[in-house]
Amino acid sequence: MSWNTFGRIFRFTTWGESHGPAIGAVVDGCPPGLTLAEEDIQPFLDARKPGQNKFTTQRNEPDAVRILSGVFEGRTTGTSIGLLIENTDQRSKDYSEIAKSYRPGHADYAYDAKYGLRDYRGGGRSSARETAMRVAAGAVARQVIPEVSILAYVAEIGGDAIDPGNFDADEIARNPFWCPDAAAAKRWEALVDEARKAGSSLGAVVECVATGVPAGWGAPIYAKLDADLAAGMMSINAVKGVEIGDGFGAARLTGEQNADAMSPGEDGPEFAANHAGGIAGGISTGQPVTCRVAFKPTSSILTPVDSITRDGEATQVRTKGRHDPCVGIRGTPVVEAMMALVLADHKLLHRAQCG
Ligand SMILES: Cc1cc2nc3c(=O)[nH]c(=O)nc-3n(C[C@H](O)[C@H](O)[C@H](O)COP(=O)(O)O)c2cc1C
Repeated sequence: MSWNTFGRIFRFTTWGESHGPAIGAVVDGCPPGLTLAEEDIQPFLDARKPGQNKFTTQRNEPDAVRILSGVFEGRTTGTSIGLLIENTDQRSKDYSEIAKSYRPGHADYAYDAKYGLRDYRGGGRSSARETAMRVAAGAVARQVIPEVSILAYVAEIGGDAIDPGNFDADEIARNPFWCPDAAAAKRWEALVDEARKAGSSLGAVVECVATGVPAGWGAPIYAKLDADLAAGMMSINAVKGVEIGDGFGAARLTGEQNADAMSPGEDGPEFAANHAGGIAGGISTGQPVTCRVAFKPTSSILTPVDSITRDGEATQVRTKGRHDPCVGIRGTPVVEAMMALVLADHKLLHRAQCG
């Protein structure tokens, strides 16, 4: 009944809180013989880590990962892989007010209502600090699916969307927003900086594309690839919506417009479009697997918001600690990791049933 584990065959369990001594993950079900070293994991953590520029929180965690088990002489042994990151920049004094009052938009009230107590330092277990371990586990998952390339990028901040005509994959790593449109990245600098200076926040839409997924991964009915992807993405902090392929947009199309017409090709079928996001009947079609993930604006803002204390008295909550003006930016590597984790699990599930 603790729900800290995700996946069926390739499973990972995370543990730890924002202000505990460390956070960790146990990755179980990883096939033996894959090359794996801390250097394979660290770059992905570096992409997610806080304090990299003025558009993300100034909490300064090195997020150095250690592999504690499951790897011998640089290769996975098939046993459980233990991963550990020490927390080095937890400053509890920033969060002392949370002990008494509930921060709207955070898990404070809901955790108290459920458990009757909570670790209020930095949100405890509900803190997105936990997502560092998914990124670490996701790096292990990538070793299981070398045939797949995963790319996530921010497609929209504060309602200002990229122009798909300006899409340049090389641009993504050149700006602090994971933005594939240089003109949009320029606009977002002013937009996000304005929100940061005002102590406000903005939402974002992150898109993720996995290419190289062969036809046949996924399962019918209760283990649909799209259902597992949606569950994985929705489990990320601050995510409020997930679309597969055209998602809600498909509801506005006619059957003709939405048809992913097929024709014979040299290496199997060719598709004229990919409205379905590479998944039909819960099973991959060989087209790129695509999804869009909606992140809400950061709840912690400088403007006082009405709330209540633990004793039920009216109060106001204003955040003084260090916070991201747009959590979708740092959420982008987490989206990539969840895509890798779901696909690795489905590759192994497919192999288990179909050989
Ligand atoms: C990478 C990442 C960083 C986050 N950082 C913050 C933050 O600095 N301040 C904040 O209010 N929320 C932050 N969040 C979101 C909260 O963790 C989340 O809104 C809160 O736990 C309540 O959960 P829910 O929004 O999923 O319902 C972050 C989310 C992610 C993915």
